[in-house]
Amino acid sequence: MENAQSSSPLGNHSIYCGTTRYILPLPCDELIRSTGPTTLEMFLIGAEAQFQLVSRFLPQNPSVLDIGCGCGRIARFLTSIHGIRYVGFDVLPYSIQWCRTAFDPLFGECMRFEHFDGFSKAYNPRGTVKPGGYRFPVEDRSVDLAFAFSVFTHLLEQDARHYLDETKRCLKKSGRALFSIHNTPAQGCDFSGDEHRIDIATSYFIGMASDAGLELVEDLGDICGQHTLLLRRSL
Ligand SMILES: C[S@@+](CC[C@H](N)C(=O)[O-])C[C@H]1O[C@@H](n2cnc3c(N)ncnc32)[C@H](O)[C@@H]1O
Repeated sequence: MENAQSSSPLGNHSIYCGTTRYILPLPCDELIRSTGPTTLEMFLIGAEAQFQLVSRFLPQNPSVLDIGCGCGRIARFLTSIHGIRYVGFDVLPYSIQWCRTAFDPLFGECMRFEHFDGFSKAYNPRGTVKPGGYRFPVEDRSVDLAFAFSVFTHLLEQDARHYLDETKRCLKKSGRALFSIHNTPAQGCDFSGDEHRIDIATSYFIGMASDAGLELVEDLGDICGQHTLLLRRSL
C-alpha cells in the first residue's frame, strides 16, 4: 500500500486518454488489489454484477451507505443513479484519499467518502480507534440501502456485531442491507479466522443479525465468490 501513496493520486491506468474532466479515473493496481481482485477485469466484472444486485433494492432518490467502500468499486457504478445520496467509509486511508480526489470534482455533492482510523490487523494496523466503538457517519433511520461487500470477511466477531447494530440504527423502516460473508468456518466453529479472512456459518451470521434487530429477507447464495444475504430491520 505504500506504493499507492507515492504513485499518481489518480492511479496508473492509461486506458482513459484525454480529458478526465467528465470521466472517473481507474484506481492504481495496489488499490484494486486491496479490494480483493487481482486484475482490473475482475475488479470491474465483480462490481458490475454487485451493482446490478444493489440496483434492485434502490428506491427513487436513494440514500445509500457503503460500509468498507474501499476505492469506490461499487460507487463508480452508482454515479449513474439519479438523485442518489451516497456515503462510503473505510479504514484504509489511501482508498478514501483516492476516492475523494477522483469523485469529488465530478460528484462531490451527492457522494461522500469518510475515513476513520479503525484498527484492522489486515488493512490498517496502525489504526488508533476500535471499530467496535465506531458510529457510522449517517443519521438514525436515514438509509435506504446499506451494503458491505467483502467486509464482514475481515471483521472480528465483536466488531461485526457492532456493525450489525449500527446498520440497524441507520436503516429506514423500509430499508434493506446487503452483506457478503465467507461461510466455511473451521470445523466445529461458527465463527473463525482473523482480519485477513473471517468465516462465519450462515445460520450463525443470521443469528448475530437477529441479535442486532435485523432479519433475513432472502438468502441470495453465492455472488462473486461470497455468500450474500439480504436483510431488513426486524423491529
Ligand atoms: C476486500 S476489501 C472490499 C472493499 C469494497 N467493499 C469492495 O467491495 O470493493 C475490504 C475492505 O474493508 C475495509 N475494512 C476492513 N476493516 C474495516 C472496518 N473495521 N471498517 C470499515 N472498513 C473496513 C478494508 O480497508 C477494505 O477496503
